[in-house]
Amino acid sequence: MKTLLVIGIGAGNPDHLTLQALQALNRADVFLLFDKGPAKHGLNDLRRDVCTRFATQRPWRFVEADNPERPPDGDSYRGAVRQLNDDKQQVIEQLIAHHVAEGECAGILVWGDPALYDSTLRILQAILAAGRVAFEYQVIPGITSVQALTASHRVPLNEIGGSVHISPGRQLPAHVEPGDSQVVMLDAHQAFNRLRGQGLFIWWGAYVGSPEELLIAGPLDEVADEIVRVREEARARHGWMMDSYLLRHV
Ligand SMILES: C[S@@+](CC[C@H](N)C(=O)[O-])C[C@H]1O[C@@H](n2cnc3c(N)ncnc32)[C@H](O)[C@@H]1O
Repeated sequence: MKTLLVIGIGAGNPDHLTLQALQALNRADVFLLFDKGPAKHGLNDLRRDVCTRFATQRPWRFVEADNPERPPDGDSYRGAVRQLNDDKQQVIEQLIAHHVAEGECAGILVWGDPALYDSTLRILQAILAAGRVAFEYQVIPGITSVQALTASHRVPLNEIGGSVHISPGRQLPAHVEPGDSQVVMLDAHQAFNRLRGQGLFIWWGAYVGSPEELLIAGPLDEVADEIVRVREEARARHGWMMDSYLLRHV
């Protein structure tokens, strides 16, 4: 039987790797990498670095495939993501079928934790359901970008007894209730601007955990313009942006 290890590697700092992740890295015969284009080479550089530095106990190889492009959202965001995942499913299925031998163990390094805004587990389940290739898989949890953000800002994620809501920027609600904590990820359009004037506090971070980490915290109405400016400058400098934030009343 082939084995796949879906390994959460943390959100940009190799020190996020858990002992379980280190053990998993050292079980792999092959690491499957997906190239997301030049703008995101930095993300795969970290994956390569992790393998080279920490998978030291046995020989292994990389197998790389181009990550399919996401189709334009058109009328349906979910439709576009479903199409992307179908395309990714084909790519991953081919890699497993042709580049992982019977009895071998393949590692897929997932940014943060595989359970949070990542399609790898859904795709593996779909591949198994299609029944064309057989394998077993295990999931090794990782430090999420949410944990990295709260740690860098040294704040708790929730108020005492309060709820935590996590959403992509496009689904940010119009209000955050007192006592609730709202985390926003995948926000290309600075949705926090829509919540100005409500007395909220924001803890914002980009490239959190990496040497390029940027952090801004303060009353949203006072720091929103600065975040927009710093974010735009950094995005232009790096060619890509990875930011998230926590909002609540204080
Ligand atoms: C596709 S999701 C992947 C989330 C990941 N699986 C996790 O556990 O954090 C990508 C989003 O995570 C957030 N993110 C990931 N790494 C980050 C980092 N180092 N700093 C800030 N936000 C990050 C950003 O909101 C980004 O748009």
